[in-house]
Amino acid sequence: MKIKKAVIPAAGLGTRMLPATKTIPKEMLPLLDKPVIQYIIEEAVDAGIEDILIITNRAKSAMDDYFDYHPELEERLARDGKTKELEAVRRTADMANIFYVRQKETKGLGHAIWRAKDFVGDDAFAILLGDDIMRAEVPVMKQLIDAAEKYHACCVGTQAVADDAVGRYSSLKVSPLEERIYKVTDMNEKPTPAEKFSNYAILGRYVLTSSIFPILENTPPGKGGEIQLTDGLRQLCRTEPFVAKVFEGRRYDTGNLCGFLEATLDFALDFPETGDFLREYIQSKRV
Ligand code: UTP
Repeated sequence: MKIKKAVIPAAGLGTRMLPATKTIPKEMLPLLDKPVIQYIIEEAVDAGIEDILIITNRAKSAMDDYFDYHPELEERLARDGKTKELEAVRRTADMANIFYVRQKETKGLGHAIWRAKDFVGDDAFAILLGDDIMRAEVPVMKQLIDAAEKYHACCVGTQAVADDAVGRYSSLKVSPLEERIYKVTDMNEKPTPAEKFSNYAILGRYVLTSSIFPILENTPPGKGGEIQLTDGLRQLCRTEPFVAKVFEGRRYDTGNLCGFLEATLDFALDFPETGDFLREYIQSKRV
């Protein structure tokens, strides 16, 4: 099981970040000097991924432009001797082989993933949600790939979330295999407190086999009237080896205002050009 392909679903409507996301894809909102999606692609590349498919829609073409060359800008930067900026601009286009397919209707995450069927073929593949950013010493995607390869299994990234938060995620039914790795036997999407299996929630990262595609093709709309990936995974974990990795690292949901703000502040505190400035600024506000 060698994982070289990744899918980044980024075709959601981003309604929690309106009105900004009316015309700017939420994946393109800048977290310091880079758009959110660049952090996600960097994580995938650092985990050994070579080919990346981004699921987009008709309002998201800013993403294709961002990962393309920009000859006029590059010529100007070269002429002005701005080598650092030129390298940064070039790098975005050379990081990985990036492909795009559109989800023509916003029918849910499961439907978006199903659009990756031809790209994936018969391979096992990774999924990184387009608005979930991870900060970790070992890339979270790499932690999942290692677990999937060790157990020849599908794998989801998980952490235990607070009781009052489980209902916003998918809850996993698990039994321990080793430290930080659990066997998964069931799951449900956005459970009520009575329905939840555990506080282990799926958080934005997956390794799946192509067996998910025939399942998704026949998965009816679930919670919220959308085709839910979790409903498909629920079937998959009954027929294939399936594990959950309790990953080491911090996850930020940049698709909502508070999550975006947390990510911005944490990244800015460690960013050489802004760290000292931000610390001093916060101190001055306390006075
Ligand atoms: P979210 O629910 O976090 O994204 O979906 P959203 O739908 O854009 O958010 P709000 O609630 O309207 O603010 C999880 C992931 O699934 C993708 C999103 O882009 C995000 O990466 N998604 C969701 C799709 O690609 N297509 C869909 O139809 C729905």
